[in-house]
Parts: sequence; C-alpha cells; structure tokens
Amino acid sequence: MPKLSSIIDDVKRRLHGRTPAEVVSLTLKTVRHTARGISPAAARARRADQAFDRRWGTDTSGTVNLSALSVARDRALLGFGYQASNGVALDEAVTRAGIDPARYSFIDYGSGKGRAVMIAAARGFQRAIGVEFAPELHDIALANGRRFTSAGGSSTRCEFILGDAGSYEPPTGPIFAYIYNSFGTVILREVLSRLETRAAQGDPVVIVYVNPLNRSAFEDGQRWTVAADRSDWVLYTPAC
Ligand SMILES: C[S@@+](CC[C@H](N)C(=O)[O-])C[C@H]1O[C@@H](n2cnc3c(N)ncnc32)[C@H](O)[C@@H]1O
Repeated sequence: MPKLSSIIDDVKRRLHGRTPAEVVSLTLKTVRHTARGISPAAARARRADQAFDRRWGTDTSGTVNLSALSVARDRALLGFGYQASNGVALDEAVTRAGIDPARYSFIDYGSGKGRAVMIAAARGFQRAIGVEFAPELHDIALANGRRFTSAGGSSTRCEFILGDAGSYEPPTGPIFAYIYNSFGTVILREVLSRLETRAAQGDPVVIVYVNPLNRSAFEDGQRWTVAADRSDWVLYTPAC
C-alpha cells in the first residue's frame, strides 16, 4: 500500500502549475485511483497476480510503464505497458480453437516478463516464443524461463526474442499467435501482415486477441474471421 507521504508528494507534483478546475479534477481522480488500489477487490487481484510467481519462484507480476523502459520513443508511443496475463484466456482460446498444441508454435507478441510464454510451454506447444522490445523485460523473461524450466514447469524450452513485434518474422508451420493488448492498430497491422503472408502460404494460423481494444485492425480488411467472440478475448482465423 502506498505511504500517505508519497501520495501527498505525488498529488503536489501533479498539481503544480494547474488551474483551480484542473486541481479539483486531478485531486478527485487521484483519490478515486488510490481508493481503488486499497480496496478488497484490488488486494484480491494483486494476490491472484502474484500466485504464479509464488509457485514457480519467477518475477512476472506488477505493472511497468513504457516510459520507464529503454525503448525507442516513436515505437513506445504506439504500444502499451507491461501487465501479465493470468492464462485464463489462453486456455479458453486453445480449447475453443480445438487445436493440438503439440503441432503449433505459440508466439506471444509483446511478451514482457514471459508469463504467457511459460504457460504456453506448460500446455505442450511445440515451441513457445515471446517477442519483447524492452530489454529490461526481456532480461527478466530469460531468467524467469530458466527458473520455470528448472523447477519442472515444462519440458518445452521458452524462447525469448528481443525485438519489435512489428518486424518479427514468424517461423513456418502452424502458428498460435497471442496478443494481450500490447499495442495499437499501427503495430497490429504490421504483425497481421506477416501472419497473413504465412496463412497465404498454407500455414494454419490462429490468433487470440486478449483485451481486444483495437478490433478494427483485424476486421476492417476482411482478411480475418471471428471464430469466437468473448467479452475479454476474440479468436481470429484467416478469412479464406
Ligand atoms: C500488456 S503486456 C503483455 C505481457 C505478456 N504478453 C503477457 O501476456 O503476460 C504488453 C507488452 O507488450 C510490449 N510491447 C509493446 N509494444 C511492443 C512492440 N512494438 N514490440 C514488442 N513488444 C512490445 C510491452 O513492453 C509489454 O511488455
């Protein structure tokens, strides 16, 4: 829980040079945000977020803003910060897709500290790959992957690639792509263009889009069909 003195310092810093109306609005927002952070529901969510790490001795929980990471500013402006998946959507989407993970390469576009990649490795995907552009998160993911494997989490090796999702060339063969609200439409379209090429070459491609805030990137070009539509994830397959 944040200390009262640090909350006051934060409020002072944010209010400096503001008009009275902005002061009132920002103060209310800060109070609401702080209240949400100390609510029982927030405490439950924090405990659930930390459960994976308690079990495997990894470091995947918490949130990280892109402004705190060493990423190119023009690309950071097109992306979103770090927060780990809980694995529920991944499992539901694999079941709904009806695929045999042992035939598919799992690719997490914007893999952060690697939790989704580790979960995919444990589910028996042929390959479990994560692409992350922030070196700080990539290094943590590498260490997590080693800990997870040596603690018996999976026999599939976790592969972490440092780079921009938009320029990552996926491997040949069946692909199960996973995107947890990592970036907006510009980078989504770059990723989709490469996956469309794979699909056109005859490789089976399935994409699960979790927290799907930018569905237009998939649905405007009519190249992807909605195979399943849940409130918090959408499953896409190639339109033809
Ligand atoms: C919401 S987190 C998801 C983390 C992970 N996929 C998971 O499910 O646990 C989004 C991640 O995408 C990364 N990201 C954002 N833009 C990116 C880009 N252009 N290329 C690679 N990674 C990116 C962020 O650094 C962050 O780690």
